[in-house]
Amino acid sequence: MSTNLSILVLHGPNLNLLGMREPDIYGSLTLEDINDLLRNEAENLGVSVSTLQSNHEGILIDSIHNALGTYQGILINAGAYTHTSIAIRDALSGIKVPTVEVHLSNIYRRDDFRHNSYIAPIAIGQISGFGAQSYCLGLKALVNYLRSIES
Ligand code: DQA
Repeated sequence: MSTNLSILVLHGPNLNLLGMREPDIYGSLTLEDINDLLRNEAENLGVSVSTLQSNHEGILIDSIHNALGTYQGILINAGAYTHTSIAIRDALSGIKVPTVEVHLSNIYRRDDFRHNSYIAPIAIGQISGFGAQSYCLGLKALVNYLRSIES
């Protein structure tokens, strides 16, 4: 069992509205409910998680830069920035902290403009379409990956 893995969970724009935001698409759980699920999953996995939500691209980028040396992995739902932000992609590829991308909805079943992710090509992988479970599955996959690369 590996020691002291710390994971940064980043939630992008509008995810603070979860619970009231298009519940037919995103479900009825609030962001705090999802963070609780993640903390519970983290405890089961024996890792620690820190969560941050921002509606601002620069804040997300700063927190990605600051992850270097503090976190071993990043779990990110960049929201709409997934489809627009080369800057977030460059931040993630710049620090090279292993990253898993998650989405509540299946972005490939939705509008064409949601089919492209700037993050996916530089991520370990992407989980999309399982609602809040996407986050838990993503956390498990990320921890599994990090443990597999430990010597
Ligand atoms: C989302 C999908 C994005 O297209 C959208 O802009 C979001 C949420 C999801 O979790 O399904 O804000 O990332």
